Amino acid sequence: MVHARAPGKINVFLKVGSLLEDGYHDVASAYQAVSLYEDVRAWPADDFSVSASGTVDLSSVPTDGSNIAIKAARLLARRTDYRGGVRLEIEKHVPVAGGMGGGSADAAATLLACDALWATGLSREDLLALATELGSDVPFSFTGGTAIGTGRGDQLSPALAKGTFQWVLAVADFGLSTPTVYQELDRHRVRHSQDIFPAPVAPSVDANVLQALRAGDPHMLAETLYNDLQAPALHLEPSLAKVLELGEQNGALAGIVSGSGPTIAFLAADLDSALELQIALSAARLTVVRATGPVHGARIIGD
Ligand code: C5P
Repeated sequence: MVHARAPGKINVFLKVGSLLEDGYHDVASAYQAVSLYEDVRAWPADDFSVSASGTVDLSSVPTDGSNIAIKAARLLARRTDYRGGVRLEIEKHVPVAGGMGGGSADAAATLLACDALWATGLSREDLLALATELGSDVPFSFTGGTAIGTGRGDQLSPALAKGTFQWVLAVADFGLSTPTVYQELDRHRVRHSQDIFPAPVAPSVDANVLQALRAGDPHMLAETLYNDLQAPALHLEPSLAKVLELGEQNGALAGIVSGSGPTIAFLAADLDSALELQIALSAARLTVVRATGPVHGARIIGD
């Protein structure tokens, strides 16, 4: 058995450019890996199977070939001419369909686990190339830390970061589909005419974000949190606006929709204010988890 672990993420900055011909958008994002992990255990088997357990709502996690972990294992087997299969068990801690890259972490951890189990001999670069084929956020879960993503979000360059940021996450009891949120953004841009809200031609990450990450200063980072998918996510789920408000009234430096949502990520000044915020949001009957970032990317925990 091989046990691999990969982190979820928060996009502390996400600018969405135009819709490209392949159906993807040109983006510029600053990713931070956070301490919510997906644990994947892999056993040798004749065919491919997956089961899920964990601390999050598992009701929408598929256990057939449409599960991204199975896709990852099959892709690796195909590319390395591996004849057998694998039995995968995923222990999930990243909210499902929450905008925090839980499925991407499953794919990244599965690639690493199967690579070790099958002793494929692939290089890190080979695995990263496979990660890119599986989804825009999979390479980042593989590398972790803090990084800038361009293209679909999969062209990564590391960013300097200091210290540890404290996050409080309000987890919704529903999911949002990433393509639906992107489509809502496109519709919004058409409704309000490209002249008024033009899609940035070549989106880039604001220099202030990089400076805040380099300084390890949560107050600075709070000023620069930005997500183009926030407005469409709020339009699709207006109840999220109240959650954002509640966090900001209870000591959060700032709140942001994580990725395509619906998880809301609140940045706290320090551990004490994060704990206070967690208590206040829990008292308002929200599902709340704390996380810190940045953390390492996918790695083997043991066998
Ligand atoms: O790459 P991934 O499978 O995570 O993307 C899911 C969907 O999100 C895509 O099919 C696309 O609709 C949307 N997307 C996008 N532009 C990106 C990343 C994702 O439009 N850069």
